[in-house]
Amino acid sequence: MQSLQTALQNQQTDPELSQLLELLADICCEISNDVRRGALAGVLGVASSENVQGETQKKLDIIANDLIKRRLAELPSVKGIASEEEDDVVSLHSDGRFLVSFDPLDGSSNIDINSLVGTIFSVLPAPEGTLTQASFLQSGRNQLAAGYALYGPSTLMALSTGQGTQMYTLDPNSQTFLQLEAQVQIPATTQEFAINMSNQRFWQAPMQGYINDLLEGANGVREKNFNMRWIAAMVGDVHRVLSRGGIFTYPADHKNPDKPFKLRLMYEANPMAMLVEQANGLASTGYENILDIEPSGIHQRVAVILGSRDEVSHCLSYHA
Ligand code: AHG
Ligand code: MN
Ligand code: MN
Ligand code: MN
Repeated sequence: MQSLQTALQNQQTDPELSQLLELLADICCEISNDVRRGALAGVLGVASSENVQGETQKKLDIIANDLIKRRLAELPSVKGIASEEEDDVVSLHSDGRFLVSFDPLDGSSNIDINSLVGTIFSVLPAPEGTLTQASFLQSGRNQLAAGYALYGPSTLMALSTGQGTQMYTLDPNSQTFLQLEAQVQIPATTQEFAINMSNQRFWQAPMQGYINDLLEGANGVREKNFNMRWIAAMVGDVHRVLSRGGIFTYPADHKNPDKPFKLRLMYEANPMAMLVEQANGLASTGYENILDIEPSGIHQRVAVILGSRDEVSHCLSYHA
């Protein structure tokens, strides 16, 4: 198995970008060790603070955020960062070429039940001039790299620099990532869907229609039965989609009138959309390709429908 470092070299990745991705991998390895030690590392439970999104932070949200921030500051090529757990952007090195957006810990509600969590990251080119929020407001098409680490039974990492999506596994002995798959391919068709069904009454008509038809199974218009999975961590659900196909969606809903969408564009939807598209899948809001959105804020939220190409297309036909 080739190491992440060798794989990036073989892909002729820009050496500074490789250095950044190797650092991100190293940071994820460190977070993975904290997650594994759990209660022994004192990382479980809630903190007494809220983030800018009004969510109560878990200790591990803050620990992971501070770790990523501190270690990215080591690299002169990083101009600034944006994080789910930071109200504003943070300036690091004024001459840096890269901007990094991240969700330090995705699936926070899973931490205290010892279930799947992960880290999601996205790398953008840094525009010239002073760093502001506007520096980050670039469409997902501009991403130089996107990836996630999944702290599951084993620690895995999915990564794309625009040359397909690669999957790596963490070797706990050498504390390095080794390549499992050089070209992840999401099957075009599927019989598995992922949605938080408890929000059904709050969805809009297109999603109501799509899920209703799907639930009718083999005797309905879809003429096949579907299975449902919901991990409650996007990182786990997207990993399943990359592994065996499926459709994952967090659609618009009117449960909370001033918050119609759940997932964040810059550090959840965009990096996952890149990984999915690079693995032959599709990622849309229902009305436009996620990677084509021109962002309006670093914590902007969007509807997400992603996964197996034919199934996502089918779901989009209800939105036409
Ligand atoms: P985070 O833990 O980073 O705030 O993200 C949680 C998100 C996402 O990972 C997941 O798909 C979704 O919230 C789960 O939502 P429900 O609580 O509705 O299941
Ligand atoms: Mn959160
Ligand atoms: Mn998240
Ligand atoms: Mn998070």
